[in-house]
Amino acid sequence: MRQTLFATALLGLSLLGRIGTTDAAQPTAKPVYLDKNRPVEERIEDALSRMTLEEKVAICHAQSKFSSAGVPRLGIPEIWMTDGPHGVRMEKMWDEWSDAKWTNDSCTAFPALTCLAATWNPAMADAYGQAIGEEARYRNKAVLLGPGVNIYRIPLNGRNFEYMGEDPYLASKMVVPYIHGVQRNGVATCVKHFALNNQEIDREYVNVIVDDRTLHEIYLPAFKAAVQEGGTWAIMGAYNRYKDQFCCHNQYLLNDILKQEWGFDGVVISDWGGTHDTHQAAYNGLDIEMGTWTDGLAWNWSNAYDKYFLAKPFLAELQNGKIDEKVLDEKVRRILRLSFRTTLNPDRPYGSFATEEHALTARRIAQEGIILLKNEDNLLPLDPKQPQKILIVGENAKQMMTCGGGSSELKVKHEVLPMEGIENYFGDHAQITYVEGYSSHPAINRHAIRQQAVDEAAQADVVIFVGGLNKKDNQDCEASDRRSYNLPYEQDQLIAELARANRRLVVVLVSGNAVAMPWVADVPAIVQAWYSGSEAGNALASILSGEVNPSGKLPFSFPVRLEDNAAIALDAYPGDRKNVEYKEGIFVGYRWHDSRQIEPLFCFGHGLSYTSFEYGSASLDRQEMKTGDSITLSIPIRNSGSRTGAEIVQLYIHDKKASLPRPVKELKGFRKVVLEPGEEQTVTFTIDAQALSYYDDDKQAWVAEPGTFEAWVGASSRDIRSQAAFELLSE
Ligand code: GLC
Repeated sequence: MRQTLFATALLGLSLLGRIGTTDAAQPTAKPVYLDKNRPVEERIEDALSRMTLEEKVAICHAQSKFSSAGVPRLGIPEIWMTDGPHGVRMEKMWDEWSDAKWTNDSCTAFPALTCLAATWNPAMADAYGQAIGEEARYRNKAVLLGPGVNIYRIPLNGRNFEYMGEDPYLASKMVVPYIHGVQRNGVATCVKHFALNNQEIDREYVNVIVDDRTLHEIYLPAFKAAVQEGGTWAIMGAYNRYKDQFCCHNQYLLNDILKQEWGFDGVVISDWGGTHDTHQAAYNGLDIEMGTWTDGLAWNWSNAYDKYFLAKPFLAELQNGKIDEKVLDEKVRRILRLSFRTTLNPDRPYGSFATEEHALTARRIAQEGIILLKNEDNLLPLDPKQPQKILIVGENAKQMMTCGGGSSELKVKHEVLPMEGIENYFGDHAQITYVEGYSSHPAINRHAIRQQAVDEAAQADVVIFVGGLNKKDNQDCEASDRRSYNLPYEQDQLIAELARANRRLVVVLVSGNAVAMPWVADVPAIVQAWYSGSEAGNALASILSGEVNPSGKLPFSFPVRLEDNAAIALDAYPGDRKNVEYKEGIFVGYRWHDSRQIEPLFCFGHGLSYTSFEYGSASLDRQEMKTGDSITLSIPIRNSGSRTGAEIVQLYIHDKKASLPRPVKELKGFRKVVLEPGEEQTVTFTIDAQALSYYDDDKQAWVAEPGTFEAWVGASSRDIRSQAAFELLSE
């Protein structure tokens, strides 16, 4: 009986269902905003028109540590962001800074950006962006929080290792292909930190005072290139203040320059904790507020997101009419455009993660970025087939460098350390031993471990010291600048004693910054190895063994003494806790050394090879030009050595006479050429009026002033091999 009743009921329901149904349901037309064949701007307007006020406000601020809300009702996804510039950071908890302890997020660590800059090879930057973009895409991130392009102003800045050196032209040329590589994957770059974040001391509030000319000639060019040539889809505001306004909501930087003058159509994202006021955030160019209620990386309110300046306080001001809804709609349009470029782009690729290919890319970039600073008596390369006793000394030979350093920290699938790399390359024939020699551990008997290293050094055929900094606090780390220009943990003393014990000493520096080298005269070979990622050890050993011929060149100067740095010499760092004034103006790095005839320890653009290169005479296709013209410079370069090598040919412009003080020379071109032994190539550069221009504060414009100029071509900023003069004629 019961079954009959049940069956009857089922039959009734199914009949009922049919009564209400027309024929097979007709699919409803796809809404415009989801129709990928419609122009993006139309899709934006359609989505905007469908959103409620609350939904519009909700997408303007964080919903978790690393995501901002989507529009669930309309099927518009959340926006997930991830650090950092060197790899895809491990997953964090929703509302805590601690790791989520996932087991599928161990990534590839690519070399730090100073190493990328040291390749002077835009193709490497594109390969870097492509690979890291694939990893971010695979991990379903819409925004990669990098690259950083803040200019290297002082050797003590804790985050220099994340940036691209002291010269705006080099940084501009290297950031653009990185952006293209990443965004090709449907992932946005978020170029940071805009602007003037050149120190970590007082970073959350210090007000930077700098003249307009310096701002435009030194600190803005890499960001401008990122926007106008790179087409970055996002920019991150810096913590600090400029013109007494926080950079995360700064009328002059964000509205006047970035969005109006440069035509930036992407999204401005605050640094984490960089937002301080609702009205300023509403009107002064901020689009997405992240990380508020923290001091950047630590203390926070749990689930503070409704308290954010662009959350309920913003909604309230909109509802009471104190803030115009047009201001909100402008933010929403930009955020929707970011979504259509990323999460709502159905044609974007699927990425890949922690692959052999990415490890190989990381290794290639490291191999091209590692710099041979000194090589007396051709001590390097060491023959890997030679049965020899090699002593490795130094904590950094066995120290992981992909972790630490602050927000650019990574959890890696693998990291080949220097010791392992050297064993890989030399272990078949050499007898390799290790002694720590120095340690970052505070409670260590430094004298004892130093003495042991020195005693063993005397018995070795060759000693490889691996030291430097280590991305711990005050040693190349976010939120803390270095306290000394010298190497820490008494490394200088150890190196000097090792040099006395064994003349065949190679010093390998793992760091992201310049350091003092009081022992430089006593050490025959010095290698700048950077923080070079998952393949660091293999890349280093491939250079030491000669499998790879080093070709990297310095993206920043190594002063002999800290006082030889402009900001330090002028007592213009770190400021008085409220303001820091860039008294040196445009004279940053080599520009300062040239203007004061200061000989650096190693100059901007310096780097040696295991072969040699001869430069012929520079020639010009014309001797004079007008502003709308350009001049072509040609110069033959020959590999005069016995092995294949790559040379970075650098073009500097010298203005013989100008109405304003100008640097002796400025980098305005470079080309990396690979030459077989005996091979000669002619390298050409096009020189246009932009290459001759300075920024005139009064005119608020770039000016190419008629007169005599010289093109200087060389192997570094102080190794000029040929010059050619020409005239810029008045119109
Ligand atoms: C940090 C850094 C920034 C990073 C962000 C998220 O404070 O300044 O570079 O992307 O917070 O971790």
